[in-house]
Amino acid sequence: MRILAVGDIVAPDGREFIYNNLGRIKRKFNIDYCIANGENTAITNGITVDIANTLLQCGVDVITLGNHTFSNKEYEQVLNDIPRVIRPLNLPEETEGMGYFVDDLGFLRIAVINAMGRINMDPIDCPFRGTEKVLKKIDGEADIILIDFHCETTSEKLAYGNYFDGKVTAIFGTHTHVQTADEHILPGGTGYISDLGMTGVRDSILGVKKEVIMNMMYTRKKYRFDKAEGEVWFNGAVFEIDDKTKKVTNIERLYFSEAQLAGKG
Ligand SMILES: [Fe+2]
Ligand SMILES: [Fe+2]
Repeated sequence: MRILAVGDIVAPDGREFIYNNLGRIKRKFNIDYCIANGENTAITNGITVDIANTLLQCGVDVITLGNHTFSNKEYEQVLNDIPRVIRPLNLPEETEGMGYFVDDLGFLRIAVINAMGRINMDPIDCPFRGTEKVLKKIDGEADIILIDFHCETTSEKLAYGNYFDGKVTAIFGTHTHVQTADEHILPGGTGYISDLGMTGVRDSILGVKKEVIMNMMYTRKKYRFDKAEGEVWFNGAVFEIDDKTKKVTNIERLYFSEAQLAGKG
């Protein structure tokens, strides 16, 4: 079983890349199942019903979110009506939708969990205790458990990764929009990468026009976050899982442009 996890898909350019190329990527890397972070897919950030449905039609199996869960006004409809879109489990209890999704493929049951960190992030309930609760709830219901941990610092990601090492199949970080080169299998057998990166315009800062962020940092004033334009790069990772042991045997980090995917670059 080969599972593809895609880092934060940013803005119309990023989602168009996925719409146009995900099929080819899945064939090229023999992908059986795909999870993508969709928290920045709408121009406002967040996600819309139409974008969520289009991503699912294009071959994404589960969409995870993060601190931009509520950034688009359609969030209620998305979370209430599309169970394959999940939001961080440690948001306030009454939040619409779910923090996990269990997908029964018949021959295999895959649980996807979304949690969010607390260091340099908005205040939120404890991701460790929240995840423990969900793991207890789905105990015996899933053969493979995959977690998108949406979080700023690599230290918190590593603490979370090591805390749940051996209890879940794989943990991949999202949110920083910058890919880390630390993919490895933890001692207890859990596949791990601190951050998958971003599928969006590379010549940017977080997918936003560079000038906007530079001006903001230089002047400390607020500016409108106009999205960058330019060449989109795909960021993600493939987790190879042994059919018998259900353990990760290999992690392949992906980082390429459309031209490279087509074999021209
Ligand atoms: Fe985020
Ligand atoms: Fe993001």
